[in-house]
Amino acid sequence: MNLNPLLVGTAAPPIPAVRAWSARYRGREPLIDLSQAVPGYPPPPELLAHIAAAGGSLDAAAYGAITGDATLRSRYAEEVSELYGGSVSLDEIAITAGCNQAFVVTAMTLATAGDTVILPLPWYFNHKMILDTLGVEAVALPCRAEAGFIPSVEAAATLIGPRTRAIVLVSPNNPTGAIYPPATIAAFAELCADRGIALVIDETYRDFNAADRRPHDLIAETDWQETLVQLYSFSKAYCIPGHRVGAILAGQRFIAELTKVLDCVQICPPRAPQTALTWAIGALSGWRGENRRTIAARAQSFRSVVSSIAGWSVASIGAYFAYVRHPFPGRPAAAVAEWLAAERGVVSLPASYFGPRQEDFLRLAYANVDVAAINALPERLAVGASG
Ligand SMILES: Cc1ncc(COP(=O)(O)O)c(C=O)c1O
Repeated sequence: MNLNPLLVGTAAPPIPAVRAWSARYRGREPLIDLSQAVPGYPPPPELLAHIAAAGGSLDAAAYGAITGDATLRSRYAEEVSELYGGSVSLDEIAITAGCNQAFVVTAMTLATAGDTVILPLPWYFNHKMILDTLGVEAVALPCRAEAGFIPSVEAAATLIGPRTRAIVLVSPNNPTGAIYPPATIAAFAELCADRGIALVIDETYRDFNAADRRPHDLIAETDWQETLVQLYSFSKAYCIPGHRVGAILAGQRFIAELTKVLDCVQICPPRAPQTALTWAIGALSGWRGENRRTIAARAQSFRSVVSSIAGWSVASIGAYFAYVRHPFPGRPAAAVAEWLAAERGVVSLPASYFGPRQEDFLRLAYANVDVAAINALPERLAVGASG
C-alpha cells in the first residue's frame, strides 16, 4: 500500500532511539535518565485517588463534551484569569487529550497544505513533525546562543510571507529551557496582530518558572482573542502524562472551528482525569509551588556542577531543561549522546533532533533527577580515554 509521503518523510519519534542506546549500558552505577521530560517524583496519592474514584463512575465511562467538561473548563478559566490578570471565560477554553494533540488540532485549525508557520530553531520536534505531515512548511527562525536562544522579532518579521499563518513560541522553551521575557512575547504578539497571523504559545512548562511571575501580559493588556492561541499541558505540572490532558485558550471564533477537528480526533478528552483536575487545580497549588522550588534548586546545582566539568558548558538553562555544549566539536550530537548513554549511563537527547545546525549541543532534562544524581555527573561526563 502507498503511505502518506509527507508522513513517511518526517522524522521518527526520537525517544525510542535514545532508549535503545541506554539498553546497551553495562556500568555498575545506575542509569541517569535525562532524556524525556517526566518529573522524577510521583503525583500525590490524593490525586491518584481522585482519578481512581472518577474512573470507577458511570459518568466517566460515557462520552463527554467535545471541548471538555464545563466544570474543568470553568475552573481552568478562573486559574488562567488569575495568573494572567485578565478575564477568560469557559467558552475560550478547550480541553484536549494532551498538549501535543492541542498543537495538532491548532495547526489543523490555522493552516492548510502550502501555508507556512514560523518556528524558532531549535524547535520542539513534534511541532515540526506534524507540520511536515500536514504539508505546512515550517520556516526556521534561528535563535543564537549569544542571545540566550531568545528569538528575534525583527528577524521573524522578515520571514512572514503571504501564506504565513502563525508564529509558534514555546516558553519556557523545549529544548533550551529559555524563558522568554514578557516584552519579547508582547513584541511577537504585536507583530502577529499587525500582520493578521496567529501567535501560538506553548506554555507546557510554565509551572516550573522559578520566578513565579506572570509569564506575559497579553491577556491582561491586549485584545488577544484575534491573535493568541495558548497551549498548556497538565502532564508535567501534575505528573500525570499517561492520563493525557492539555488545554487550549483562544478566542471564541477559533474555538468554534477547532471544535470540528476535536470532534473528529478525540470526540471528548479523557473523562476521569478531567474530574480529578477540577479538584486539583486549587487543591494542589501549594504542591506545585514546592515542585517549582525543588526544580529551581536542581537548576542551580546542575549549572554549577556541569560548568565545572572540563570541556562541557551550559549554553542555556531555565525551566526544566539545559542546553549543553558538548566537548567534541565536529562530532555529531547523536554520536556523543549514544556514547554517553551506552558507555556512561547518562541518557540525553542529541540537539540534532531539534533541527539543523544543532550538532554541538545535547538537551539534558535536569528536572527529572535529584541533586544526588546531578552531583554524580562530573564522573560520568569526564572525558577520558573512552571519550
Ligand atoms: C513543548 C511541549 N509541548 C507539548 C508536550 C506534550 O505534552 P502532553 O503530554 O500534554 O501531550 C511536551 C512534552 O514533552 C512539550 O515539551
